[in-house]
Amino acid sequence: MDNRPIGILDSGLGGLTSVWELHKRLPEERVIYYGDTARTPYGSKSPETIVKFANQLVDRLIACNTKMIIIACNTITAWALDDLREKHPAIPIIGVIGPTVRKVVFDGVESVGVIATKGTIGSDMYGKSLRKIKPDIKVSSMACPAIVPLIEEGLTDTDIMELTIKHYMDDFVSEGDFEDLILGCTHYPLVSGQLKKLYPNLRLYSSSAEVVAQAKEIMQEKEMLAAGSEFTDRYYASDLSDNFINLTDKLFEGTDFKIHLLKLEE
Ligand code: DGL
Repeated sequence: MDNRPIGILDSGLGGLTSVWELHKRLPEERVIYYGDTARTPYGSKSPETIVKFANQLVDRLIACNTKMIIIACNTITAWALDDLREKHPAIPIIGVIGPTVRKVVFDGVESVGVIATKGTIGSDMYGKSLRKIKPDIKVSSMACPAIVPLIEEGLTDTDIMELTIKHYMDDFVSEGDFEDLILGCTHYPLVSGQLKKLYPNLRLYSSSAEVVAQAKEIMQEKEMLAAGSEFTDRYYASDLSDNFINLTDKLFEGTDFKIHLLKLEE
């Protein structure tokens, strides 16, 4: 048993979709969340910058006595996971891409679509990881960079969002030969309602959810699951705009969720 909290990080808001999943599947676990809202989005930044920022976030969470780190951001996973693991061999660090790839392959999918930020699609990390396990799998990818800013503007349930999704996805879906779609960005579960409505025949894989399944397996194997922890979940962000507070309050309505400002040293 290990009652220390799990550190979860993201460039901003998206990683909170992994926190939901964690609370749902592993209610005994406690978390420390860090969203780098001051520097979001990461999806269009250079790999060097992403690696530098990711190291700062992980150092901060490890200093809080966390037992495991979940990188709840596809862009950080794509570019920085190997570097982070190399620097911190003593603590399990898991990203969102590996667990999602494993599930897709396990389910026997032959052809899959991936939507994500420009950074994640540019890395081709989903394609490479899928083909490494299943060389003949067909992977079709599409960067959808305008979806994250619209979510962060609170425009999730709007016609603009629907038009934006259609703009990226209509041809991609009709010309692509796939029935399974990876939501390769931790923000995208927040628009899964619209995706299901617009493309009801697609089966969606959420990277935010799959990472929690793998975290559970690792903790079971290492006998690190929590039980009766007295730690209270803590949520931090590097910038707290009114917009961000309104959004997170809405997402966690009815709970005692509160996010605190914690700046990073430059
Ligand atoms: N949540 C991030 C991801 O999963 C996207 C947001 C960003 O671009 O910073 O890639």
